[in-house]
Amino acid sequence: MLSCFLYLLAFFSQFYTRAQLNDRESAYSLPQFCDSALQNQPRLDRLAVWDKQLSSNTMSPPYKLTATQVLELLHNNTLTVEVYARSLLDRICERDSTVKAWAYLDPDYVLSQARALDQVPTDRRGPLHGIAIGVKDIMNTKDMPTQFGSPIYKGHRSDVDSSAVAILRAAGALIFGKLTLPIAGKTTTTEFAVTNSGPETTNPHDPNRTPGGSSCGSAAAVADLQVTLSLGAQTGGSIIRPASFTGVYAMKPTYDVISTEGQKAFAPTFDTFGFFARSVEDLQLLADVFGVQDDSTPSDIPLEELSVALMKTPMWDSAGPGTRSAMETTNSILTSEGFKVEDVSFPPEATDLATLKNVQKVITLSEARTMFLREYRVGKEKLAPQIRGIVENTSNVTNKQRTEACDTYASMRRAINDVAKDYSIIIAPSAVDEAPLGLDDMGSATFNTMWTAS
Ligand SMILES: *[C@@H]1O[C@H](CO)[C@@H](O)[C@H](O)[C@H]1NC(C)=O
Ligand SMILES: *[C@@H]1O[C@H](CO)[C@@H](O)[C@H](O)[C@H]1NC(C)=O
Ligand SMILES: *[C@@H]1O[C@H](CO)[C@@H](O)[C@H](O)[C@H]1NC(C)=O
Repeated sequence: MLSCFLYLLAFFSQFYTRAQLNDRESAYSLPQFCDSALQNQPRLDRLAVWDKQLSSNTMSPPYKLTATQVLELLHNNTLTVEVYARSLLDRICERDSTVKAWAYLDPDYVLSQARALDQVPTDRRGPLHGIAIGVKDIMNTKDMPTQFGSPIYKGHRSDVDSSAVAILRAAGALIFGKLTLPIAGKTTTTEFAVTNSGPETTNPHDPNRTPGGSSCGSAAAVADLQVTLSLGAQTGGSIIRPASFTGVYAMKPTYDVISTEGQKAFAPTFDTFGFFARSVEDLQLLADVFGVQDDSTPSDIPLEELSVALMKTPMWDSAGPGTRSAMETTNSILTSEGFKVEDVSFPPEATDLATLKNVQKVITLSEARTMFLREYRVGKEKLAPQIRGIVENTSNVTNKQRTEACDTYASMRRAINDVAKDYSIIIAPSAVDEAPLGLDDMGSATFNTMWTAS
């Protein structure tokens, strides 16, 4: 339950950061599309089509709108899915050479899907009819390659969608393309002192900084208005941290309430599916489609009765000036608006930083060892050295340590949930600070990992 509120965390820290080298596929036909689109149908003509369809040309072009706004325009026939998709593709043509968020994108296919959606009779349209969604390239899509950022999976295609993609497609979503992640799969967080070899995806707010990892393309594409919604996954801090670095909203729902079937596993005790958007309404829209709900429906209560816990967490010492000032600003805004805000500490069972880090390290390494054995056996030489090391158990993690770590972890979760139940909202940092400069450091997940399996 407590993690349902986590999406609130991403909004107050507008941090910008870095990333690096991606082998973008030959199937990646964007450059040809953009060239020919520019030759055959000048952008201005397409915008004129859009202008004509609008009752008022003071409205924003569709690529700038949230999903909730697009749905309204599609619903009242002010906009077609095709015109909306073209608007996004125009934006991508303009920005892709800087942001490089796509691992796979076939614009002509996107447009044919858009036209097919426009043909669906009004009474058979789903709750996400026409909405463009980018998919992190660790989730299977039946009509596009899924390459996990790994040379072992070059050109790999699955015949079936991942569970989440299938649910979205059934809701009428326009599955747009595949978004980048660090090369060689989700390797591991920098906390394990394992270097991420990222794609060259940049932070839309500053191309010299990372968008954060590992859902780097998902965060960057939504932040840069290239796609309206996107999907990601978090094992350490792979959703909330890039959302913070790129200044978008994200939701990492309660562990296991959305199926990760058809998504590459890393450490199943922590692997959590989630999504990126540019408004809270849009997060709600997706949460509803995925059937995410609390045990009881939250009741409306007056603002002054909301209780807010500010949790600096045991990692507070690593918070940089940006995070410190974001927390202070949040506190003073809420206090001045009459909210009850309390500084709340983690319960004693969960405050020992060394224990927390060890639990996370042992569980992640031992589970990843199992999850990457397949790639190791199939194509060891194409696997990042860090992952080879995990499979070869170079950190000497024993089964006994793994079992003990799982037990400790369960007791920490209980302790934190006991504290959480007394508050309507918990606010905690999303990232250490603004996104670091350079594309070689995807930033630390230290503020995210303790929430990931909650
Ligand atoms: C459709 O909805 C938009 C946004 O609310 C509004 O501006 C527009 O006038 C509506 N158009 C029609 C034809 O109802
Ligand atoms: C793991 O064990 C090997 C063999 O005993 C040793 O050489 C190595 O340093 C150990 N690794 C770690 C991370 O402790
Ligand atoms: C990992 O290394 C430790 C220490 O060498 C060893 O006790 C353990 O059995 C190894 N685990 C696996 C699964 O190989």
